[in-house]
Amino acid sequence: MSRFITELKRTHTCGDLTREDVGKDVVLFGWVNNRRDHGGAVFIDLRDRAGVTQVVFEEDVRPEVHDLAGQLRLEYCVGVRGKVVSRGGNANPKLKTGEIEIHATDLEIFNRSEPTPFPIEDKIETSEEKRLQYRYLDLRRAPLQRTLMTRARVNHLTRNHFTEQGFLELETPFMVKYTPGGARNFLVPSRLNAGKFYALAESPQLFKQLYMMAGFDRYFQIVRCFRDEDLRLDRQPEFTQIDVEMSFVEQNDIFDVIEGLVVRLWKDILGVELPRPFLRMPFDESMAKYGNDKPDLRFDMPHVVLTDLVRQHDGGGLPLLEEAVKAKGIVKAMRVPASANFSRTEIDKLEEYVKGMGAKGLARAKVGEGGEWTQSPFAKTVTPALRQAINAACGAQQGDLLLFQFGKESVVHTVMANLRVHLAKRMGLIPEYGSGGQWRFLWVVNPPLFEYDEESGHWAAAHHAFTRPHDTDVQYLETDPGRVNCYRYDLVLNGFEIGGGSIRLHDPAVQARVFKAMGISDEEAKNKFGFLLEALKMGAPPHGGIALGMDRLVMLLTGAESLRDVVAWPKTQKGTDLMTGAPGDVDAKQLREVYVKSTYDPGK
Ligand code: AMO
Repeated sequence: MSRFITELKRTHTCGDLTREDVGKDVVLFGWVNNRRDHGGAVFIDLRDRAGVTQVVFEEDVRPEVHDLAGQLRLEYCVGVRGKVVSRGGNANPKLKTGEIEIHATDLEIFNRSEPTPFPIEDKIETSEEKRLQYRYLDLRRAPLQRTLMTRARVNHLTRNHFTEQGFLELETPFMVKYTPGGARNFLVPSRLNAGKFYALAESPQLFKQLYMMAGFDRYFQIVRCFRDEDLRLDRQPEFTQIDVEMSFVEQNDIFDVIEGLVVRLWKDILGVELPRPFLRMPFDESMAKYGNDKPDLRFDMPHVVLTDLVRQHDGGGLPLLEEAVKAKGIVKAMRVPASANFSRTEIDKLEEYVKGMGAKGLARAKVGEGGEWTQSPFAKTVTPALRQAINAACGAQQGDLLLFQFGKESVVHTVMANLRVHLAKRMGLIPEYGSGGQWRFLWVVNPPLFEYDEESGHWAAAHHAFTRPHDTDVQYLETDPGRVNCYRYDLVLNGFEIGGGSIRLHDPAVQARVFKAMGISDEEAKNKFGFLLEALKMGAPPHGGIALGMDRLVMLLTGAESLRDVVAWPKTQKGTDLMTGAPGDVDAKQLREVYVKSTYDPGK
């Protein structure tokens, strides 16, 4: 064993030493980040996760140490002992340790390194595939080291926050019984129970509710969740939630605890004071103005719903819009200010963009003098009254451009929502990370309890079947389910859903009515959720909770562009781990042991 490790021991990190330490004898461990051989002296920058320190090996101090230093190459892992000396006029003001250097008296090479497949530098051109294949090298780079340290800080602050407020950090099983609804589960075959499967928990939802029924009243957990979904930049198949459940609370109590945590994270990590309370917006307003329930409020450009206006004007000379309204569709417009100054070619490109999302086209109108429309398929036939009404509703000024979508509600919302963000990017309306005014938190509240599933002809739970309807809406459960709103809330930041939760249904009688509205029989409910329904009948307290997406939170906190940049060992878009090769093959014997037969045929 090296004397450096058994005896000398590390005295400082590579990010510690300043002018104050001049004259000290120190021991540092790290990796060679940079190396220059000036004949009589070898210079290296020694790096660990705390920073970089310059070390000099001079021939006339210890010739044998200088000779060994001559062998150093990038990424060699070494121990160095020496004296802290001032760099005087050669100080590097960009580095915390820039005022000093170590004049080395001892050196040990713990391990040599082959040339790495890419340089360990802040900015590199290397493909993401290569970086993921050698993730342990990628993680040596300062930006990723900073991100993971921020993640660790978020964990630490979160635990402090909840523990100080009397929450218990309690665990829940990962291997659970499959229950329908929610995201698709990963399945795990059981060796001890032939033909049976566990599901990997997509969240601790039912167990955290059962903790409330067991009397633990304030639960939190920083917990891994598993979902077999199509992956996107903001989705990983295994991800981390900050999961919370509380008894004897209403919505505002949950908001209070979560806002407190978020404010604390932003203050501690970024030095930013967030204003409280966070904005709240009803779900319906969010859909109308922004086309989805996770609007980016860093810029304006709201949608304007024109459905009623078109109806009031009997189509107003625009048969396409009239038809859309008659077919129970909607009509929306968005005003692009004259200052955006889009050319015709640019607008044609916008049309291509929306067609890519399933839109039939992108109707438009340029607003001229006196509110006339030009460059528009509507210009000739629109009645002056409808035109004026639309201009007024959109606040249109001369030179502005109006963009329209009409037809099926869900398509119009999605197309317009994406178009809004797309335009804002093109117009430079989205502030860069690190500039002011960029943290627009929002609670989206009071969504409908059910959504209508056209395929099955039934109302289905929009979130899950255990969300509590507004007391005033319970009366409509049988007569008008679409009208029932519920205590469900999402926390949104800059266009991302970073958390979601609800106040739960703890009343078995209302629960039974909700199942009925969804066309779920008593028998079916018992089969699916029997244990929870039983627990509800034995003194279940009123309760509610929320889960924050920890990875998304860290992504936004650090200005990263993808979850892959904030998860240490992420999966690719196809769910693979390029470093270990997961998911991998298993042999026939292993499959037999768990009673599984593969139907996969590589030829097909
Ligand atoms: P929900 O499904 O809304 O709620 O998840 C909570 C938050 O987790 C994050 N999230 C993800 N992050 C990364 N990759 C994914 N695949 C992924 N899926 C979700 C999001 C989301 O807001 N049990 C409920 C919470 C509750 O009701 O208390 C739940 O899991 O940021």
